Amino acid sequence: MIIAVDGPTASGKGTIAKALAAHFGLPHLDTGLLYRAVGRQVFLDCRDPDDASEALAAADFPDSLLSDPALRSEDAGGLASRVSVHPGVRQTLYERQRAFATQDGGAVLDGRDIGTVIAPEADVKLFVTASVDARAGRRFREMQERGEPHTLKEIADDLRRRDERDRNRAEAPLVPAEDAYILDTSALDRDAAIAAAIEIVESYVAR
Ligand code: DC
Repeated sequence: MIIAVDGPTASGKGTIAKALAAHFGLPHLDTGLLYRAVGRQVFLDCRDPDDASEALAAADFPDSLLSDPALRSEDAGGLASRVSVHPGVRQTLYERQRAFATQDGGAVLDGRDIGTVIAPEADVKLFVTASVDARAGRRFREMQERGEPHTLKEIADDLRRRDERDRNRAEAPLVPAEDAYILDTSALDRDAAIAAAIEIVESYVAR
């Protein structure tokens, strides 16, 4: 069974994807981490994330970079959003994601284009969304716990910028697949969002 979990930044899709993978005993890939690694590599190389060929060169990052805690920072997220507009970068990361999605036994992948591009044949597609206010509030609390000093307004402005870029890029924009279940987590806490997602997948399995 392939489960595709797409949605904007801080919608809760990562938490939901991880929980689904644990519940159904499937391997999980956070595809945003691959784009974050490209963004981080561009930064380490002192290159320009908006330049297609400089970003493409960074797509050849070493695997060890994937465990760098700096990938979780807001800066790495912003850089990831910028490098992800380049078709060459997306193409380079495609094979790796596709191989993960089609492995024997199935998989859970979360990202922006899993249900539309990486695994359009996925058995279940979830599009996890939430209001900007709800997402900014969650991100703010996470960042406070990590000791990253940003105001709520800075975070909300950054989320809007990233949504805009992710939704309006020409290549694989952030849009729900036609056959995706839309799960709005604005009014749900972590456990309720996970329970709702499990219910959606179980209703598919029961069919
Ligand atoms: O999910 P995230 O915040 O870690 O993703 C960071 C950026 O990577 C996001 O702003 C857009 C890009 N991304 C993408 O274009 N396609 C994916 N499948 C995953 C992430």
